[in-house]
Amino acid sequence: MLTLNQHGPLRGELTVPGDKSISHRAVMFGSLAKGTTKVRDILDSADVGATLDCFGRLGVSIERTWEKPQDVIIHGAGMRGLYPSAGRVVLYTQNSGTTTRILSGILAPQPFTSFLTGDESVNRRPMKRVIDPLTKMGASIVSMNQDGCAPLRIDGRALHGIDWKSAVASAQVKSAVLCAGLYADAATSFTEPALSRDHTERMLRAFGADVKNDGLTASVRPANELYSPSEIKVPGDISSAAYFIAAALLVPGSDIVLHNVGINPTRDGIIRAARAMGGNIEILNETDTAEPYADLHITASSLHGTVIEKDMIPTLIDELPVIAVMACAASSETVIRDAAELKVKESDRIAAMTENLRAMGADITPAEDGFIIRGGKALHGCAVKSFKDHRIAMSMAVASLLADGETTLVDENCVAISYPSFFDDLSRLQV
Ligand code: S3P
Repeated sequence: MLTLNQHGPLRGELTVPGDKSISHRAVMFGSLAKGTTKVRDILDSADVGATLDCFGRLGVSIERTWEKPQDVIIHGAGMRGLYPSAGRVVLYTQNSGTTTRILSGILAPQPFTSFLTGDESVNRRPMKRVIDPLTKMGASIVSMNQDGCAPLRIDGRALHGIDWKSAVASAQVKSAVLCAGLYADAATSFTEPALSRDHTERMLRAFGADVKNDGLTASVRPANELYSPSEIKVPGDISSAAYFIAAALLVPGSDIVLHNVGINPTRDGIIRAARAMGGNIEILNETDTAEPYADLHITASSLHGTVIEKDMIPTLIDELPVIAVMACAASSETVIRDAAELKVKESDRIAAMTENLRAMGADITPAEDGFIIRGGKALHGCAVKSFKDHRIAMSMAVASLLADGETTLVDENCVAISYPSFFDDLSRLQV
């Protein structure tokens, strides 16, 4: 249990750890490529550790470098070089939905049998959304408890190209289908109702794959090999930066700079939402790389309410819990809708944030697909829970900075899923 207290301004500079989504993909595609890939500034966290462990068990050799623990060198096995030592493999994906879903697409065409299982949270998350398109491609994937969730048994099969229309906007599902499509007998396309993060498309192109984006459709042509671009630089994770963006906007007198934050337009919704609420964020030193990044200068601001909906949702889906905290401090009402996906993340994030913020005194009404928050009510410190969900833990740490009295947070260690040094970095900015 951690005790947190209301605190004065945040000041100074910080480089947040590497982007989780990009780190997973760098390990996956580096493993499947021919050649050696140096991944610079990879996220050193439990979730990415799960992906590294899985590819180790699939026979890929991965080294940590002497220079920095955040750099790894992957000796790619080639698209057809994954080789589980026992002829079949059991992979434990821990808490990582991204690992579980994208790996399903990579394993479906391999010439061996795999079993994929995760922790209690992963084994509750919907997998039908990947099982259905992959089965249509010819894969053999079985939910072993017949509940549409992991554990999954995957028996490798030859795959066919398909044109899939997904009911959900999901980069994990899109990535699973595109990865499977690399091994198919014809082109594969994936169309989603709103554009989800496009890291897979960008990175597969860097590995030489024929991948295109056309509006809401991503497509891939079969490949014989992926070729390593030698080096991949992982920008800072905007989802991790979001907690400091929110804290600096909300705590009077704050003034911080966050360095090298990824600002991919399919991920930058937090910046747009914060600005729409009156938040003062300057984007400095923007780079024009495959995955753009920049420094963000944030100063304390008076926020008002806004509406967050439709196409904007996938660009800030993981930031909605901390945006709910920002909404509590805003001067008017904030409506968040079209975000039913929040219910099937590491926890039910609508229920978790409603319970915690209500306990602190916020005026929040949950809905099936979001929340309505009437801002301006003072928050009080109390006992809150992380629900073993890293994003809930970090969002409640931000709420505690505004609440009078003491806030206690249980199961705070789950921040290690995406940001092991979160509490240390927060203290470093507290002057
Ligand atoms: C991710 C995609 C999102 C996001 C998750 C990471 C990814 O999930 O919430 O934290 O790396 O592809 P969905 O694809 O389910 O929307």
